[in-house]
Amino acid sequence: MSKVTVFNHPLIDHKLSIIRCANTNTKDFRETVSEIASLMAYEVTRDLKTKEIETVTPIQPTITKTLAEEVVIVPILRAGLGMVDGIHKLIPTAKIGHIGLFRNEETLKPECYFIKMPPTVKEATVLLVDPMLATGNSAEAGIRILKERGAKKIIYIGLVGVDEGIATLQSNHPDVDIFLAAKDERLNEKGYIVPGLGDCGDRLFGTK
Ligand code: URA
Repeated sequence: MSKVTVFNHPLIDHKLSIIRCANTNTKDFRETVSEIASLMAYEVTRDLKTKEIETVTPIQPTITKTLAEEVVIVPILRAGLGMVDGIHKLIPTAKIGHIGLFRNEETLKPECYFIKMPPTVKEATVLLVDPMLATGNSAEAGIRILKERGAKKIIYIGLVGVDEGIATLQSNHPDVDIFLAAKDERLNEKGYIVPGLGDCGDRLFGTK
């Protein structure tokens, strides 16, 4: 069974409080989401492999460690885009793939309209970012698409999730560890997370 990590950290809690507030403007919302993603990336990447190299400091030669793994960041469009920069700042060598999904209003299932992956997706550690883990259907579809393209090591990163979304991912993809900044109470009748932070895409891009 996959590991579920819900961050319990004063800085992340403080920044979550800012993005949950309905009065936070688009600029502050976007910047704060990016900062939370950076803070989360620090812990999410704890198990990345390193290799030893020889480095000459101003004093003498020594052995230092550098990243030995490719990392690919994959946002699910469009809200996932808000978390990319914060992670990319910490791992500037990471490549970025994109998955576009929309909800088919008849089947209520996510359908894919866009996929672009770097060729390294097969051997890389893939960080799938989708801020709101509500029903879990879009993250589940995103993981399935990544696996169809040969990804073997996938980590899911979201801001806020509920038990239902976690259960969807764990039952379909028990090999994918889950990292959330917070776990909330429930979904409302429209599928929004309660108390949540509203529609993350609209709040990031000012579309409402
Ligand atoms: N997507 C959002 O943007 N917000 C929610 O609360 C649930 C899904």
